[in-house]
Amino acid sequence: MKTQVAVIDFGSQYTQLIVRRIREQGYLARLFQPSELNVLKEINAIILSGGPRSVKEKNAPDIDFEYLKDLNIPVLGVCYGMQLLNIKWGGQVTPGIVREYGPATLSISDPQTLLKDVSNHSQIWMSHSDTVSQLPEGCRVLGENAAGIPVALQWNEQFYGIQFHPEVSHSKEGKKILKNFLSLVKEKPAFSIATFKDELMASVRDSIGGKKVVCGVSGGVDSTVLALLLHKANINVHPIFIDTGLLRKNESKEVHDQFKQLDVNIDIIAAKDRFLSVLKGIEDPEKKRQRIGDLFLDLFWERAGNMDIFAQGTLYPDVIESATSGSIASKIKTHHNRVQRILDLHKEGKVLEPLSTLFKDEVRALGKELGIPKDMLYRHPFPGPGLAVRIPGEVTEEKISILQEADAIYIHELKQAGWYEKIWQACTTLLPCKTVGVKGDERAYEHAIVLRAVISEDAMTADWVEIPYEVLRNISNKILNEVSHVNRVLYDISTKPPASIEWE
Ligand code: XMP
Repeated sequence: MKTQVAVIDFGSQYTQLIVRRIREQGYLARLFQPSELNVLKEINAIILSGGPRSVKEKNAPDIDFEYLKDLNIPVLGVCYGMQLLNIKWGGQVTPGIVREYGPATLSISDPQTLLKDVSNHSQIWMSHSDTVSQLPEGCRVLGENAAGIPVALQWNEQFYGIQFHPEVSHSKEGKKILKNFLSLVKEKPAFSIATFKDELMASVRDSIGGKKVVCGVSGGVDSTVLALLLHKANINVHPIFIDTGLLRKNESKEVHDQFKQLDVNIDIIAAKDRFLSVLKGIEDPEKKRQRIGDLFLDLFWERAGNMDIFAQGTLYPDVIESATSGSIASKIKTHHNRVQRILDLHKEGKVLEPLSTLFKDEVRALGKELGIPKDMLYRHPFPGPGLAVRIPGEVTEEKISILQEADAIYIHELKQAGWYEKIWQACTTLLPCKTVGVKGDERAYEHAIVLRAVISEDAMTADWVEIPYEVLRNISNKILNEVSHVNRVLYDISTKPPASIEWE
């Protein structure tokens, strides 16, 4: 499928969100590195992303501006992209000392093209330290922030720039701004998830041929979509499910039933003891992730033998947050499917990750196209390393079982109260300390459970959910009464950022 909009990645954590926002408007957008600009042909528009570097730094990421101009298509610079364009057009940028981060207001001075129909003083989202300090001749200011600093610029009929991030939902009218930009594109939108599915199946078939593919399944949306995609593409696929013992209560059986319903045979490996043994004495979250990731691979190899290709349902947030996408973004945490051995396999060309450019909601749309029932598609995400990253400190069998019981009550009660569907992800964490309480007139020195519920579009940012007090009270009572060794329940009211969704 032909790329219509190229997003040049200068390393912002949000770059792929731009891609997604553009796809939402029906244009096929893809991500490219700055050095790839010169090979782009037949593109309809270009967006230069934000990034963590300063344009004034030595060796700051750069582009071939003459090539960009010669393409003769609409260009939008976002944050770093805008500053870079301002310099290229002959203006100036001053490095800031403090990073401006968070909400700001947009005062519109020129409600044409880019800011057409955008409300004056609407909220925008900033994340930058440099500021445009001098404009080149002929540059028009379309909008300013409250301090009178230009935050939306137009250099000519095709080159635009904005200092804020239109791609994040906190920029209230960001979608409208991107839509206005896309109205400058000459070609019609040509992207839909249905055509994407057909192309994806065809390209996987082409790249794999008759090779044997081993595929890890977890029962979650991503790996279920992956397994069914491969199955329906007539690939020779061997789906393996590893029961790590770090799963939710009864999850192994549920996963088995789910695949039976989809008519896909899965091979189940029961490996609880082996996971417990590699986690023994380990407290560091990165080490836990590393060991779990390694054992996953050992088990796959033991079972599958000499396989040609290993497929996994990696999504884009897993790639970008582990900073292995070739982008300049900073490393946040190593997701289990981005451990070194997987990266080594990548180099050998033995890893297949057909979903790695997609976000969760796009994967759900793809799953719907493949005929996966809604209740499977809308299951809350569950991390690969499972409950291990919800037990800060050493993971033990006793702690897992306490957490499984508490989690089962939490999820069940959320469903009963009609809140499960409204929540993007709900999870429980077992704190690495005991606290004093009273049970039946006796001193109780027992565990504390943290409940967390977030809404998110794509796991890159998240907000905590205002679950009604009576629902929380009921959940807390049930956990305190029914789960042994727990005497305290807390509710996590942290947004991401700065917190992440999981505690580890
Ligand atoms: P964080 O905690 O990074 O989580 O805000 C974002 C989303 O990713 C899930 N998560 C993982 N998923 N392997 C996965 O497949 C992992 O190692 C992993 N770590 C976190 C998390 O549950 C949330 O949905």
